[in-house]
Amino acid sequence: MLVDRYGRVATDLRVSLTDRCNLRCTYCMPEEGLAWLPRQDVLTDDEVVRLVRIAVERLGVREVRFTGGEPLLRRGLVDIVAACARLEPRPELSLTTNAVGLARVAGALADAGLDRVNGSLDTLRPDRFETLTHRRRLDDVLAGLAAAREAGLDPIKINAVLMRGVNDDEAPELLAWALEHGYELRFIEQMPLDAQHGWDRATMVTAEEILASLQTVFSLTPLGDVERGSAPAETWLVGGGPARVGVIASVTRPFCGSCDRTRLTAEGQVRNCLFAREESDLRGAMRSGADDAELARRWEVAMAGKAAGHGIDDPGFLQPSRPMSAIGG
Ligand code: 5AD
Ligand code: SF4
Repeated sequence: MLVDRYGRVATDLRVSLTDRCNLRCTYCMPEEGLAWLPRQDVLTDDEVVRLVRIAVERLGVREVRFTGGEPLLRRGLVDIVAACARLEPRPELSLTTNAVGLARVAGALADAGLDRVNGSLDTLRPDRFETLTHRRRLDDVLAGLAAAREAGLDPIKINAVLMRGVNDDEAPELLAWALEHGYELRFIEQMPLDAQHGWDRATMVTAEEILASLQTVFSLTPLGDVERGSAPAETWLVGGGPARVGVIASVTRPFCGSCDRTRLTAEGQVRNCLFAREESDLRGAMRSGADDAELARRWEVAMAGKAAGHGIDDPGFLQPSRPMSAIGG
């Protein structure tokens, strides 16, 4: 098992399949993009599947989420999903995507065994979409999400980040749209994970503000911590239910104490936290011939050293040197 010294057990694995992306969300990447990882540093499909297999067979991982960058840019994605769906015990398989290329592959992914999709969408207005992502792809995103629903990849969750002065007035509109389409919307507080280091605690849109804004239009009833478990989203019933909305208050109401995640970067480094300042190299060990038991042992050691929390509010907080796109969301 992947247990740390605070007794937390990681059963949820996030695997970044690429650091590349076809959008440039301002809270993640600079407009000109980043220097991508050299190809030989990125795990091969077989290497990814081997590490996921070790996590599932030896380390108690029950859920595997593929992320990026943008995981749909990974050519072997459908085959990786299919191979992971054959593992025993079969893990739950999901994908976090910007949905730009999803219309084309949603059916193939569902056939391969993908269970669920989380899409990212911060605005429904084309001009704002371009301001936020530096690309004009809103229609592709909407088509991708619709295709995911057609393919039965339910429940489809939508992650939205509100940015001050850009889309911070759009929460009720986004929720109305999500309810209309049967998507589960969750707002995420912006975290200091952008490559440009432009995050500012003082201007970040807080969970409290998001709730206040939603409550100008909707009546919200808290579902409470009982249903929250280790899920980072706090959930509210909308208009008495059954519709719901979530808020992931990573900064103002951190949930590090119940974190059940372990992360693998596209280069095969274990990260025990999004905000970790250290990584453990499994790729090097694997390529020098380490067996499954040795790789599992290294993964356990990496997780044992997990910090109690992200420490964003500590005076000495240092943002991780990798941006979100190179860690995996
Ligand atoms: N803060 C909050 N959420 C972020 N995401 C990417 N960068 C940040 C950030 N700095 C979100 C994306 C996507 C998921 C992977 O994480 O919008 O939904
Ligand atoms: Fe791409 Fe996701 Fe980063 Fe946006 S947040 S630039 S979609 S990796």
